[in-house]
Amino acid sequence: MITDWDHNSWYHRLLLRQVPAGAERALDVGCGAGTLARRLADVVPHVDAFDRSPEMVAEARAVAPPNLDVQVADALTVELPQNSYDAVVSMAVLHHLPLAEALPRMAGWLRPGGVLAAVALPRADLPRGLPVEAAAAVAHHGLGLAFRALRPLTGAELFRHEPSHDAMPVADGRLTTRQVRAEASAVLPDVRVRRLLYWRYLLVWRKPL
Ligand SMILES: C[S@@+](CC[C@H](N)C(=O)[O-])C[C@H]1O[C@@H](n2cnc3c(N)ncnc32)[C@H](O)[C@@H]1O
Repeated sequence: MITDWDHNSWYHRLLLRQVPAGAERALDVGCGAGTLARRLADVVPHVDAFDRSPEMVAEARAVAPPNLDVQVADALTVELPQNSYDAVVSMAVLHHLPLAEALPRMAGWLRPGGVLAAVALPRADLPRGLPVEAAAAVAHHGLGLAFRALRPLTGAELFRHEPSHDAMPVADGRLTTRQVRAEASAVLPDVRVRRLLYWRYLLVWRKPL
């Protein structure tokens, strides 16, 4: 569709803002073709990233800077050192995973004081969520038209889908944001989960010192 644009890319900045100041090591879980991991590597000295898709990892490795290490691994089985990352981030992956299993694993990789920040896809919470769904649709198409008009004038990508988009393993959200909050709170006390406008939720948790 002519108004389509990349909501994941739109929320990269939000995820990057959750990374604690002075972070030395960060991990991107389910990095896909590595766009977020590369942005992370611009601001964090050492970044590890993994994805279970060998095709995605090959794409990510092809353009990885020296301070970004990308591996093929599964979030539910990978062995990583405990208490070692200042930030564990993830974009559009949590809804692929059983939260009760995945979140404690991700929390275990964080050092005390470190931050887990993830954006993923919720299921629509209808009828309660009708206003946000309607607002999202209107804003999505409005911004999409604006991006389309501005791309030739500015030369900027303006949240255009990357070439890897069509090959990316994707899934629909299975849980509403409220269900995510309930499931996540059961394993990570004090976790914050909020619905974002463009069909995503943000989950943030700081590991107690
Ligand atoms: C929608 S893509 C998002 C990729 C990337 N984070 C981005 O924002 O472009 C979802 C990714 O999650 C990965 N994935 C799904 N389940 C996974 C698992 N159990 N372990 C590691 N990666 C997984 C898929 O291979 C896919 O690359």
